[in-house]
Amino acid sequence: MTVTTVYKQSWTMDDVHWSLFDQQKVEPTLLAAIKAAALVEYNAPDYVVYLKRIFADSSAATLASIEQWGQEESQHGLALGRWAELADPDFKLEEAFVRFRKGYTPNHFAVHEADSVRGSRRGEMIARCVVESCTSSYYSAIRDATEEPVLKEIAGRIAADEYRHYKLFYDTLNAQTEPDIGFWKRLMIAVGRVRESDDDELAYAYYCANVPPEKKAMTPYKRKKYSRLSANASMAVYHRKHIQKLVQMVVKVVGANPHGWLANLAGALLWHRLQARSA
Ligand SMILES: [Fe+2]
Ligand SMILES: [Fe+2]
Repeated sequence: MTVTTVYKQSWTMDDVHWSLFDQQKVEPTLLAAIKAAALVEYNAPDYVVYLKRIFADSSAATLASIEQWGQEESQHGLALGRWAELADPDFKLEEAFVRFRKGYTPNHFAVHEADSVRGSRRGEMIARCVVESCTSSYYSAIRDATEEPVLKEIAGRIAADEYRHYKLFYDTLNAQTEPDIGFWKRLMIAVGRVRESDDDELAYAYYCANVPPEKKAMTPYKRKKYSRLSANASMAVYHRKHIQKLVQMVVKVVGANPHGWLANLAGALLWHRLQARSA
């Protein structure tokens, strides 16, 4: 039986056992994926501004929890970035992040409307829960896949945070006084958010993180190419159990039984698709 350390909330960069870093155990494909993930996580402040706008007239506790959430996401970026800098001294988190920011701003961060792009606060929370389900399972998969001790620890800490984020947004979803959303609408929001993962964010983060500035002119950004490279690098870490957990979390938010037929079918289909992609 494997024993997984349970990491508590509010850890800091100083809690990580950086001195255990082992260069021999760094795996290049995973390193490329970690560099990209660092940029996406580090970009949280924009999302904090957006969420605080949507929840502007909510309780001080809700606004404080959004603030805390954003700080934790930024720290994920910082921790992954520092690990990537250890593994590859040519990588510079801040430099790559500046390039990423220059080329990527989601539409809903650029406009200043008070409403969620998901149509309601409940819709926004469903979309957030989908993202936290994905990140929670992704970092659990990295924790289980890597032999490098520091990355294993960081991924374990982040996975625990992401699971708490999921619970935070799930509770916030259910605390809203606005009318509830039916099953099919919830499902559409969830599927819509999953499909957005194919957009520029991940592909462009992968590009900025892995193509150094001096090679930019020779190696221009091609969305399709970097989307495929990014997906291949990330998908390699998953096992069936991580996919099932991801699907169960999403199915719960949609309002169906996380251990029922929908979760089993969706888990099997998603796993089949990922296997076919990486074949
Ligand atoms: Fe995160
Ligand atoms: Fe999160």
